[in-house]
Amino acid sequence: QVKHVAVLVGSLRKESINRKIALALTKLAPSSIKLDIVEIGDLPLYSEDIDVTPPAAYTTFRNQIKAADAVLFVTPEYNRSVPAALKNALDVGSRPYGQSAWSGKPGAVVSASPGAIGGFGANHHLRQSLVFLNIPCMQQPEAYISNAGAIFEENGELTERTKTFLQSFVDAYADWVLFQTRPQK
Ligand code: FNR
Repeated sequence: QVKHVAVLVGSLRKESINRKIALALTKLAPSSIKLDIVEIGDLPLYSEDIDVTPPAAYTTFRNQIKAADAVLFVTPEYNRSVPAALKNALDVGSRPYGQSAWSGKPGAVVSASPGAIGGFGANHHLRQSLVFLNIPCMQQPEAYISNAGAIFEENGELTERTKTFLQSFVDAYADWVLFQTRPQK
């Protein structure tokens, strides 16, 4: 049956390019997977002190990740690394110790920047955490969307070139998710 993918967007701003890319991916995704954005902007900064009695936002978020079959990250680069909001979400989902919501969920990373290097630094810093969180991450195709201020036409549609690339990316990711979640003997 259809696999559910939790999409985490690393930018909190309304007009975020990364959010627009995430929304475009939800539309391009093949019917074998369903993508839904899980919001991370209301998660209090992680502290073990407040987690003694977890805030509702933590519990809701953890349940959303646990309910998903897979996770997809679409993020900008902040100061050559992962935006704090996204790192915070990774941290919240990883606790309480031994009850991580992430473990085993197949993942992939898209990074986008108006600059020339396509958020490479964020993309790879994020992958470092994904190794530890036991999120098997699709290796290819990689997705570094550079010059991302120019990937949408005036009517809001993706340029043909980017659309073609994102289609191939999300098709490969669907295959990755199905393979990683196949029934075990
Ligand atoms: C940025 N930006 C940025 N861009 C980049 O390519 N490398 C970087 O290290 C940074 N650092 C950075 C730090 C902070 C705090 C901000 C706010 C921005 C620019 C960034 O790529 C640009 O604002 C994007 O448009 C952000 O993505 P969204 O919000 O459009 O998805």
